[in-house]
Amino acid sequence: MESMGNLRRTHFCNDLGKGNIDEDVVLMGWVLRRRDHGGVIFIDLRDRYGLTQVVFNPEMNQAVHAKAHQLRSEWVIALRGRVVARLTGMENAKLATGAIEIMVEELRILNTSETPPFPLDEEMEISDNLRLQYRYLDLRRPAMAAKLIMRHKAVQAIRNYLNDKAFLEVETPMLTRSTPEGARDYLVPSRVNAGKFYALPQSPQLFKQLLMVAGMDRYYQIVKCFRDEDLRADRQPEFTQIDMELSFVDEEQIIEITEGMIARLFKETLNLDVAPPFNRITYDEAVSRFGTDRPDTRFGFELTDLTEIARTCGFKVFRAIADEGGTVRAINARGCASFSRKDLDDLTDYVAQFGAKGLAWVKMKGDGEWQSPIAKFFSDGERAAMNTVLDAREGDLLFFGADTRAVVLQVLSELRLELARRLGLLKGDVFNFVWVTDFPLVEYDAREKRYQALHHPFTAPREGDVDKLETDPGSVYSRAYDLVLNGTEIGGGSIRIHQRAMQSRVLSVLGIAEEEAQDKFGFLLRALELGAPPHGGLAFGLDRLMMLITGSDSIRDVIAFPKTQKATCPLTEAPAAVARKQLTELHLRPDWKE
Ligand code: AMO
Ligand code: AMP
Repeated sequence: MESMGNLRRTHFCNDLGKGNIDEDVVLMGWVLRRRDHGGVIFIDLRDRYGLTQVVFNPEMNQAVHAKAHQLRSEWVIALRGRVVARLTGMENAKLATGAIEIMVEELRILNTSETPPFPLDEEMEISDNLRLQYRYLDLRRPAMAAKLIMRHKAVQAIRNYLNDKAFLEVETPMLTRSTPEGARDYLVPSRVNAGKFYALPQSPQLFKQLLMVAGMDRYYQIVKCFRDEDLRADRQPEFTQIDMELSFVDEEQIIEITEGMIARLFKETLNLDVAPPFNRITYDEAVSRFGTDRPDTRFGFELTDLTEIARTCGFKVFRAIADEGGTVRAINARGCASFSRKDLDDLTDYVAQFGAKGLAWVKMKGDGEWQSPIAKFFSDGERAAMNTVLDAREGDLLFFGADTRAVVLQVLSELRLELARRLGLLKGDVFNFVWVTDFPLVEYDAREKRYQALHHPFTAPREGDVDKLETDPGSVYSRAYDLVLNGTEIGGGSIRIHQRAMQSRVLSVLGIAEEEAQDKFGFLLRALELGAPPHGGLAFGLDRLMMLITGSDSIRDVIAFPKTQKATCPLTEAPAAVARKQLTELHLRPDWKE
C-alpha cells in the first residue's frame, strides 16, 4: 500500500472534457471496474461526482501497467496522467467525461478492498438488510449518493428561503420532557437524578411556543424528532422536521409563507414550478370524497354515499347495515368493466385486510344495465338512481362497501389507491398538493373513553366554536391544517392557544386535570400568563418530502443511516445490550438475565 505522496487532486471524476486535452491531471477515487483489452487496461474511476475512464498502456509505461494489473473493484487509487481525446466511435455521450480518457503515468494504490458483498455497478435486487448492514457501500452507488446530494440541496434551499424571510434558526434540547404528539416517548434515564428520566422530543412543539413568548417572532429548525411507534415505509423512529413558528400571524400568512418555501424547494431541487396557491379541501370534504384526510388527488374514483338508497333495497346485507347506522358507499372505476374475475377476486382479497367483509361489484352494460351478482336485489328504479348518483356509464365498474363508517372509509380509500396502482395512475412526476383544513379539534376515543386532540393539545379551537367546547366538544373545529402531497401528509400545524384560560379549557375537555397539566407542562401554562403573543406554525417531514422529490419508495432511501422496520440498525447493531454496571449507575434494576 502506498501513500498519496505529493499527489494532490486536481479534478473530480466528472470534471474533465474536451477543453482539458493534453493537461496533466491528478484524480483519486475507487475502481468501479477493470477491463483488459488486448494488453491495454481500462479502469472506470469513480468518486461522488462521477466517472472517468483511465487507461494503462503497456507500451507507455511497463511498470505502471503491471501494477494496474492487480487492481480490483473498490480498490482506492490515486493517479496522475494526461487527458487525451477518446478515439472517434469510442465516445460515451451518456457520461459527462465521455469524450476523454486519462493516459496514466503514475499510479498509487492507497488501499485494497475485499470483494464487496454486493456489486456496486449493477442494478440488482439486494436485500434491504444487507444494504443497511453495508450502508457505506450502498451509499457509494451513484443513485443513492444522488439522493443525499438532493437532500443537501433541499436543506440549503429551505434555509436560504427562511433566512430571507427573517426566520431565526434556534436549537432546542434533545434531553427534555415528554411532548405530547401522540406517540410513545424514547426515554433516557438520568444518572445524577435517581429514578428520573428525560424524554427525547417527539417534536420541539413546546420550545418553539416558548420562543414565541420570548419574542423571537419567527423561528425555524431542521431538527431530529423521536417517536417510538410502529414503523412503515414513511415512518422512522427518528426523523427530521423542518419546524417553524411565527408570531402575530393567522392561517393565511402561514400558508402563504410555507407555499413559497415549497415552491422554492421544488424549483431548486427538481427545477419544477409547483405554482401556489395550492388547492384546499376541508377535513369533512376530504373524508367524504376520498375516505381519508390525506387524499391522493392525482386520480378520481371518489366515494359516493348510497346509504339512503340501500336502506330500502332488497339486498339484505346492505339494508341491515344501513338500518344499524352503518354506511353503504361506492366507487365508480371509470372504464374498468373489462376487469377479469381474477382481478375482482384479487381486489376482494386485498380489501379484506382492511376489514372488508365483501366487495360487491357491478359491471355497467349498455342502457344502464347491470352485470353483477347483486343486480337481482335491486329494483329498476334503485339501479337507475344509483347509476345517476355514480354517473355510471357503459364500460364502468362499480364497487360497493357496506359496514361501519370507519371501515367503509378505510376500505374504499385503500381500494382507490390499489386501483390507481394497478392502472398506473400514480405518476411520480405529478405533484398534487392539497391543504386539508378545518379539522375537528378532538375525536372521541372509545377505548380510552375520552376525547383526544386530533392535532395536539395546544391547537386553538375555531373562534366561532368556542362556546361549544364544554357542551359539545365533538362538534368544535380547530385552526389546524395539513399539507398533503400525492396522498402523503408532508406537513401539519396550527394556530396555537396563546391565552392561559383557553388552554385550561381545552386541557379539561381532553380530560387532563389541572394538577396533571401543571405537572406535565406547567412551564408552558406559566409562560402563557406572561405575555404570550398570538402565534402558530407548522412542521414538515423532511424525509417524506425527499422521498417524494426523489421518487423513492421509502423514507429509508433518503436517510443516510436509517433503521429497519423493527427499529434496529444492522450496521451498528443498535439497540444493543449494556453492562449491568451501566444500568445500576442509572439506578435501573433489570430483572432479565445477562
Ligand atoms: P406532526 O406530528 O404532524 O406535527 O409532524 C409533522 C410532520 O412530520 C412528519 N412525521 C414523520 N416523518 C417520518 N417518520 C415519522 N415517524 C413521522 N412522524 C411525523 C410528517 C408530519 O406531517 N409539532 C407538530 C407540528 C406543529 O404543530 O407545528 C408536529 O410535530 O410529515
Ligand atoms: P353474498 O350474498 O354474501 O354472496 O354477497 C354478494 C356480494 O356482495 C359479494 O360480491 C360480496 O363480496 C358482496 N358483499 C357482501 N358483504 C359485503 C359488504 N359488507 N360490503 C360490500 N360488499 C359485500
